[in-house]
Amino acid sequence: MNEQQLKQSTQINQADQNNLDRLKNIDSDELIGKYFQATYEPPNLKKAKKRLKKDVDIHYDFSIPADMKEIGTGKKFLIRTYGCQMNEHDTEVMAGLLTDMGYQSTELTSEADVVLLNTCAIRENAENKVFGEIGHLKPLKMENPDLIIGICGCMSQEESVVNRILKKHPFIDMIFGTHNIHRLPSLLKEAMFSKEMVVEVWSKEGDIIENLPKVRKGNIKAWVNIMYGCDKFCTYCIVPYTRGKERSRLPEDIIQEVRHLAAQGYQEVTLLGQNVNAYGKDLEFAYSLGDLLDEIRKIDIPRVRFTTSHPRDFDDRLIEVLAKGGNLLDHIHLPVQSGSSDVLRIMARRYTREDYLELVGKIRKAMPNATLTTDIIVGFPNETDEQFEETMTLMKEVGFEAAYTFIYSPRDGTPAARWTDNISMDVKKERLQRLNALVNEQSKAAMEKYEGQIVDVLVEGESKKDPDVLSGYTERNKLVNFKASKSLIGKVVPVRILKAKTWSLDGELAEVKAEVY
Ligand code: SAH
Ligand code: SF4
Ligand code: F3S
Repeated sequence: MNEQQLKQSTQINQADQNNLDRLKNIDSDELIGKYFQATYEPPNLKKAKKRLKKDVDIHYDFSIPADMKEIGTGKKFLIRTYGCQMNEHDTEVMAGLLTDMGYQSTELTSEADVVLLNTCAIRENAENKVFGEIGHLKPLKMENPDLIIGICGCMSQEESVVNRILKKHPFIDMIFGTHNIHRLPSLLKEAMFSKEMVVEVWSKEGDIIENLPKVRKGNIKAWVNIMYGCDKFCTYCIVPYTRGKERSRLPEDIIQEVRHLAAQGYQEVTLLGQNVNAYGKDLEFAYSLGDLLDEIRKIDIPRVRFTTSHPRDFDDRLIEVLAKGGNLLDHIHLPVQSGSSDVLRIMARRYTREDYLELVGKIRKAMPNATLTTDIIVGFPNETDEQFEETMTLMKEVGFEAAYTFIYSPRDGTPAARWTDNISMDVKKERLQRLNALVNEQSKAAMEKYEGQIVDVLVEGESKKDPDVLSGYTERNKLVNFKASKSLIGKVVPVRILKAKTWSLDGELAEVKAEVY
């Protein structure tokens, strides 16, 4: 096999797809041994760390194979998405591919001819949700053997997951990884016509395919990938294995995409990457996220966000450009993970509590009104009470206005998963509760400051709870609900804040321009 070939291209001989029950009689270990393990390479830290910059190819010549262009005519697809914005955006690409093949989207599994689960592997509960859903899909497949069920996204990149599906859920028709989304048309064809399970997870860590079709969710806000993968290898994290090495798109391709979105009337773009601050490091010329944002801020689009930032790579050039303001919003999501330098060290975050505070100081100096939010993991193996308290004090010291908080979840193949852990789950849960109480308190206090103020809100649509209420976000990412005409959807309007809640603000349309944001 050459490097571009499949890590895995397994074909399970289901002699008769209409007789799925037969599968129960197949000795799955034998089957996996025969077709699967011989060619599958599990994630390997040593190998993964030896990543080379060079061999990323950028392709501009993607097209749907001629014989697949109408294969979906009269048929429907449904994609369920789990996990982060990157997965959401991958779903938009898969929806684009399926639409170009003639398929229409549906919300109902009962109507679907193709169901894809775009999965997340970040924590165990994310994976459990997917296995639960796979279980729900089985009766549907039994009723309708022509239904094609595919598993893609981050879980497909894990050996243990693929083995489990092969063993316990042989009714699944295809499994494909995060690097070969563009192969969806061909894989679908294979799954349809050969009546065999297709497993394709590439060992090559992904070229960049520039011209894939996309069906974006909505026409107000858009996601734009600026880079793929992650080379940070935090000791708890599965992402460097599931998403491959860092690969930056070329600045001109990103700028062109943002210009195009602006011309289409989009009001906001979010630049995406697992570690956007590493943008440009792998390019053959000196170019950073700061340089990219300095170009993008000149584009006529009201709001530009970016996520996720890694503190280690957040450099002065970026701060200098962000301070120019304009469409670059001063909300920064800056995951800290822990307030203890000792824990940060064994997490391999490569900064200390003091480094983090110094960075926050620089950001605040350049952008006095910046809102900071974060991610925190509690109960990292052997985290002491004192170390946890340091997280609590850091939370206060920085004044985070929101935080995503998680109990550490061991992930197969990562270094931390092999460590013994002397902290009980009860203690971890109790810490999480205390942390969450503090997060809520700080969020509420930040919200209360807006009472009586006027803020600019990008109106996204009707509120989920009440169709008579509109909702949208401020520049600093605060959710605002207010009553007004639906004609305002898609516009940035001033709203006077009347009441602060813990996670949202209630207001009324104001006539004057916003005084604060
Ligand atoms: N690239 C981003 C985050 C990606 S994952 C960053 O580095 O900040 C989103 C969040 O999930 C992480 O910030 C972390 O807080 C959490 N997370 C990742 N792996 C985890 C694990 N094994 N257990 C619990 N939380 C985890
Ligand atoms: Fe995971 Fe983020 Fe660390 Fe990368 S930087 S390994 S995505 S937590
Ligand atoms: Fe989950 Fe993969 Fe995103 S593991 S958080 S979907 S990069």
